[in-house]
Amino acid sequence: MNQEPFLTAQNVSHLFGEQQKVLANLSFGLPAGGFTALVGPSGVGKSTLVRLLAGLLRPSSGQIQYANNQPPSIGLMFQKDNLMPWRTAYENVRLPLEIQGVAEGVADTAVRQMLDLVGLNDFAQSYPAQLSGGMAQRVALARALVHRPSLLLLDEPFGALDALTRERMGQELLRIWAALPVTVFMVTHSIQEAVLLADEVMVMGGQPATIVARIQIALPRPRRIEMIGSKQFQECAGAVRLAIEEKVIG
Ligand SMILES: Nc1ncnc2c1ncn2[C@@H]1O[C@H](COP(=O)(O)OP(=O)(O)O)[C@@H](O)[C@H]1O
Ligand SMILES: [Mg+2]
Repeated sequence: MNQEPFLTAQNVSHLFGEQQKVLANLSFGLPAGGFTALVGPSGVGKSTLVRLLAGLLRPSSGQIQYANNQPPSIGLMFQKDNLMPWRTAYENVRLPLEIQGVAEGVADTAVRQMLDLVGLNDFAQSYPAQLSGGMAQRVALARALVHRPSLLLLDEPFGALDALTRERMGQELLRIWAALPVTVFMVTHSIQEAVLLADEVMVMGGQPATIVARIQIALPRPRRIEMIGSKQFQECAGAVRLAIEEKVIG
């Protein structure tokens, strides 16, 4: 993995209104091509940070800088798939390219490649109501990636899926990430998911919130679900849990 930071947050703080300080002096880097996970309790400010990184919000103070000083192209995915029910899977994935005015032939190739990458070739003409929850999230992932963003922001993307589908989607995400040059930042409630997928797990806590711990996950890749039983995995998950207990709850 390339260790050059793709994105650097420096003393980023955010207030809603005049009074409500949500984030205080966050400083961290995201390595180019890396996979960083963020865990923390509900309401702590994780989605606010995602919106800041996406450029949907401007920090009240501090800076978010990118490697080439240019805002990157960004893919976003949330817990809710937000698919348009009247559009097929194919048409949903094509939407960002339509908005960008990409030529039809170019868009068609890009959409087909992305549906292929997420394993949905056979469901291109299906409507969201005809898809399982996991398949709908694959469509949402394909839509987030179809314009080949350099930064993929995931806000609890698998939070509404059942446990088995969620595990499978995590593995799929790793496969897709390995196939693309994309830096991933993922919010999750699950310590296990964070440790299994990420190179580094950041723990957010406090009011206003800061990054209270950053835990490097040195597990080898490719990551497999069976690794959850290994001593090394348990040590990493234990370190994340300890940070939450001591610095967030305690
Ligand atoms: N647009 C907003 N206006 C005012 N307060 C907000 C807004 N968005 C989020 N908040 C508040 O900021 C805090 C952090 O919210 P959020 O970032 O969604 O947390 P998380 O994603 O960790 O659950 C919460 O107290 C929430 O009520
Ligand atoms: Mg949130």
